[in-house]
Amino acid sequence: MQLLAYLPLALSTLGLTAASPIRRSQSPALTWHVSNFTTGCSPGGCTYNFNIFGIATANTPGFNTTCSGTDTSTELTACADSQVRSRVQPATYPQWNIRVEHAWTEPGDMEFYDFGETNVTSPTRLFTIPVTEEYGVA
Ligand SMILES: *[C@@H]1O[C@H](CO)[C@@H](O)[C@H](O)[C@H]1NC(C)=O
Ligand SMILES: *[C@@H]1O[C@H](CO)[C@@H](O)[C@H](O)[C@H]1NC(C)=O
Ligand SMILES: *[C@@H]1O[C@H](CO)[C@@H](O)[C@H](O)[C@H]1NC(C)=O
Repeated sequence: MQLLAYLPLALSTLGLTAASPIRRSQSPALTWHVSNFTTGCSPGGCTYNFNIFGIATANTPGFNTTCSGTDTSTELTACADSQVRSRVQPATYPQWNIRVEHAWTEPGDMEFYDFGETNVTSPTRLFTIPVTEEYGVA
């Protein structure tokens, strides 16, 4: 489960290594909308770019931002809105694996993280990412 690899990173960034994350479920399920997904490859690696829109719900702020990065980075890269981070890696050819994290703070200094992942076949430009995990850290 790759998700678990990110949590210690997120927690140490916050200086909250002693806190234990609380898993929360979203009802109804959240889906993020990606448009203009493009990749460009050279012998040195591939770059990617996409727009992503997440609708605001009762317990999740909305966002609409642009993400870009390279497939040689195994870390999540901040999007134009730094509350959103992305990672794109080659999956089984010609598929791309796309991961997105959305982080925000709620009153009482609760930090929340939503994670979503999907595989798309290039050159699909428009697709959705289901939010599969949500964590809160007190
Ligand atoms: C996608 O790209 C087209 C042309 O480059 C642009 O007109 C459009 O606004 C973009 N869509 C989003 C959601 O940014
Ligand atoms: C998101 O932002 C883009 C670029 O500013 C805009 O074209 C698009 O309509 C916005 N999408 C939504 C759903 O607001
Ligand atoms: C994406 O593809 C990889 C194999 O390339 C697979 O392990 C993973 O489960 C897939 N993820 C999704 C969300 O389908």
